[in-house]
Amino acid sequence: MISLTTNTGGLKLESPAILASGILDENGYTMKRILDEGAGAVVTKSIGTEERNGYFSPVVAPEGSYLINAMGLPNPGIDFFRDEINIALKSGKPIIGSIFASNTDDFLKLALKMQDYGVSAVELNLSCPHVQGFGSEVGSDPVLVKDIVKNLKGTLKIPVWSKLSPNVTSISEIARASSESDALVLINTVRAMAIDVESKRPVLTNVYGGLSGKAIKPVGLRCVYEARKECDIDIIGVGGIYNYRDALEYIMAGASAFQIGTALMEYGRKVFGDIAMDLESYLKKNNVANIKELVGVAVQ
Ligand SMILES: Cc1cc2nc3c(=O)[nH]c(=O)nc-3n(C[C@H](O)[C@H](O)[C@H](O)COP(=O)(O)O)c2cc1C
Repeated sequence: MISLTTNTGGLKLESPAILASGILDENGYTMKRILDEGAGAVVTKSIGTEERNGYFSPVVAPEGSYLINAMGLPNPGIDFFRDEINIALKSGKPIIGSIFASNTDDFLKLALKMQDYGVSAVELNLSCPHVQGFGSEVGSDPVLVKDIVKNLKGTLKIPVWSKLSPNVTSISEIARASSESDALVLINTVRAMAIDVESKRPVLTNVYGGLSGKAIKPVGLRCVYEARKECDIDIIGVGGIYNYRDALEYIMAGASAFQIGTALMEYGRKVFGDIAMDLESYLKKNNVANIKELVGVAVQ
């Protein structure tokens, strides 16, 4: 029997294909629909302690094989997110609560609320590249990362996933600092920009944004591969996954599950079911009983 079931980051998933944070996941109904249509789990939009409006438009600069976004972490604030989680929980599949903060205390408060709301794990956004004081500014400080992870692990009953940034000098150093987590999620977007040659100005109001989509797959693969060699911890791959072959590359580099974000803008929700079906065909053709057997096979 061919199986895509995987145990990763302290969770059992029916499928290794997970919705990435920030795409169609600020709303309980869209999260539930994505789960009903084949995703193994969803990660919520990153939620902070207070409501944030995000930046003024334009907040995205789309191109053929990539997207640059600087949304500015818009979110309703943790106290207004319980209802969305309640709706998504009706799917019966794991919901992973993504949270962002600038210090250990706020991360802890947010994580405890997410746990109370019934999520299966929390994902720490240590990696958003375009909001001052949060994300990669926190995630590039190994001492702070270690402190946040240690405190959360010591207090929470649910697994802790750390989502890391590729915008650091050494991914191995940050992977080591967060190695008490139940999983590393690699990668968030790559810091980038676009210029409009007619107005002669940067396209995004924030000037800088995060690059996602097909163009970043090689960067994501390199980060997963490096982290796999550095520590023995579950890894969730993310960045430019559009089809089963992209997903397999991440698995062979050492990821035991993967997340999909920008591809939804091209393929819609059906991308989860399509990739799962194609992965099953690949396993059958290659006489592999469980996808787990392929994790890290390309690592030398
Ligand atoms: C519009 C948009 C919003 C995003 N918002 C978040 C977010 O709130 N938290 C987070 O951790 N990552 C966020 N991301 C990053 C994605 O979760 C993912 O790490 C990245 O886009 C790479 O995967 P992809 O190429 O499949 O999109 C966002 C990405 C996009 C395109």
